[in-house]
Amino acid sequence: MLEAAHAQPTAAPETPAAALPTLRLLTCGSVDDGKSTLIGRLLFEQSLILDDQLAALERDSRRHGTDGDNIDFALLVDGLEAEREQGITIDVAYRYVSTPRRSFIIADTPGHEQYTRNMATAASCADLAILLVDARKGLLTQTCRHAAIVSLTGIKHVVLAVNKIDLTGFDQAGFDRIVAEFKAFAAPLGFKTITAIPISARHGDNVSQKSANTPWHHGPALLAHLETIDVEEDHSGRPFRLAVQWVNRPHLDFRGLAGTIASGSIRPGDEIVVAGSGRASRVDRIVTADGDLACAAVGEAVTLTLVDELDVARGDVLCDPKSRPEVSDQFAAHLIWMSDDKLLPGRSYLMKAGARTVPVTITELKHRLDVNTLGELAARTLSLNEVGFCNLATTTPIAFDPYKDNHETGAFILIDRATNATAAAGLISFGLRRATNIHRQGLNVAKIDRARLKHQKPAALWFTGLSGSGKSTIANLVESRLYAHGVHTVLLDGDNVRHGLNKDLGFTEVDRVENIRRVGEVTKLMTEAGLIVLCSFISPFRAERRLVRELLDKDEFIEIFVDTPIADCIARDPKGLYKKAIAGEIKNFTGIDQSYEPPEAPELIVARDGQSAEQAAAKIVATLIERGFIDRIDDLGDDWSI
Ligand code: ADX
Repeated sequence: MLEAAHAQPTAAPETPAAALPTLRLLTCGSVDDGKSTLIGRLLFEQSLILDDQLAALERDSRRHGTDGDNIDFALLVDGLEAEREQGITIDVAYRYVSTPRRSFIIADTPGHEQYTRNMATAASCADLAILLVDARKGLLTQTCRHAAIVSLTGIKHVVLAVNKIDLTGFDQAGFDRIVAEFKAFAAPLGFKTITAIPISARHGDNVSQKSANTPWHHGPALLAHLETIDVEEDHSGRPFRLAVQWVNRPHLDFRGLAGTIASGSIRPGDEIVVAGSGRASRVDRIVTADGDLACAAVGEAVTLTLVDELDVARGDVLCDPKSRPEVSDQFAAHLIWMSDDKLLPGRSYLMKAGARTVPVTITELKHRLDVNTLGELAARTLSLNEVGFCNLATTTPIAFDPYKDNHETGAFILIDRATNATAAAGLISFGLRRATNIHRQGLNVAKIDRARLKHQKPAALWFTGLSGSGKSTIANLVESRLYAHGVHTVLLDGDNVRHGLNKDLGFTEVDRVENIRRVGEVTKLMTEAGLIVLCSFISPFRAERRLVRELLDKDEFIEIFVDTPIADCIARDPKGLYKKAIAGEIKNFTGIDQSYEPPEAPELIVARDGQSAEQAAAKIVATLIERGFIDRIDDLGDDWSI
């Protein structure tokens, strides 16, 4: 017998169906929470089941059903015969449902632990998630994991459907407890709405109609909520993006850029820019198989012709010039790991983003998400179904938007290069470096103005040499002298900078490279302030010294090689470090077990042939005057003559 206690259709629509857009929703939760039953019930109550389907359902219910002689609605939705045999759902099944008020696309996702990845796939294009909980069991690990993924994929509206409420005797206290627990868990997840509804998918309580069994429930029935919830704002106002799938060039007079509009809309005459190259043009025509269009919007597959011949290739992203995507080869993203093979940071994967596929490595796994507590766990790898946050580097820059702004252009998949299988789904948080959406700000007061005020020309006196060679001593002497004569200076010293800005760095080659890169940037800022910057760093590698030279304006970088022989440095050993290094107590010590590359063409060499620190300092000050960096030292005194 069919049991349809609450099968009356919903009231006649007050608003036409067209008034509200299709709602995309997904159902998720743990195994046996009743997702398929709920969807089956909705279809049944909306009279959306055809007679022959009903007959098959009654037959199947007798054969496989879990509800005695009653119809088992889950069987309607669990499409695959294999699933029926196993009694679990193993893939995403999409259902298209319309009521007089609204249309729905429902993704029924598996609750079985190992299929979390399918849920993530379905969630990326949904507006709302129905999270089912068994009223008798309350929140489970799965529920929390799914809520976390739902939030990660940007869904803002959640229905907490506390199912099987009939089996608790419609117990309000139990319902309230689950709701309170869920709200506490979900507080950091940033949902806009959380609507809790006590339901019985099997018997229909609060599904289409409010149930007399739960007089204490003052909220809506599920269907009424789904029919009226406004998710429109979530879609609107996205800028134009189109990833070029192919360049259509049937003959010399036609060059069409074909692809699907990922967001926004476009009209002939609109300006576009190619995200990577920054080249701009205007749309000439929007060509389709059915003739030209006056306007095309998100989801439409079109071919655009441009007014100008631009160099555009497959994978390029065309966008609104006023709202460009970021273009970067490094970014931070969440990864939902989908492979049985664990994540290997450092290994090369393929990243498919839009119409572009490029090699990528995970440069740093920052943390794994504990889905039960939402805490960040230290992790070296990710296993199947785990979610992690990492930095990635591609071999060529790609255009993207943060996932929170645009689901189409902010998502990607990782492909295992050996097996061609999908290894992970990725959601981009933000770009690192090369952020082309950061434009330089023009300043009213220029470097030259600041320097003129100080009666000097900016310069970087770059002292390089071994530890203990006397760099800091000489730099100190020079600065004292310059200060005494009103020259505006700043002194950056390796030991000092390593206590602050660079306290995270050690002495491996990698860290020394980063040390000098940062110091170079600071030096540049200081010269822009019009200062004479004295930099005292071993800076053992030519490449990084060259890097700083190239960062600065021409002639600003004065490389001073403090050429004290290593034997003298070891003999002096002012900090006792050579002794320790020679004894093997300090690793990576310059000149002992790590190399020093002397400058090939320094502006100055000091401390050679027993030259004293004072003599060296005098020579440097004289050079500054000679080269016109300072003009205010009238009285150098005897000890400063060379
Ligand atoms: S650099 O190579 O990265 O330029 P930096 O000038 O900042 O080095 O720092 C060098 C100072 O760190 C030395 O003067 C010394 O006092 C201290 N130090 C500690 N360990 C080492 C090491 N392994 N090698 C060189 N200097 C070290």
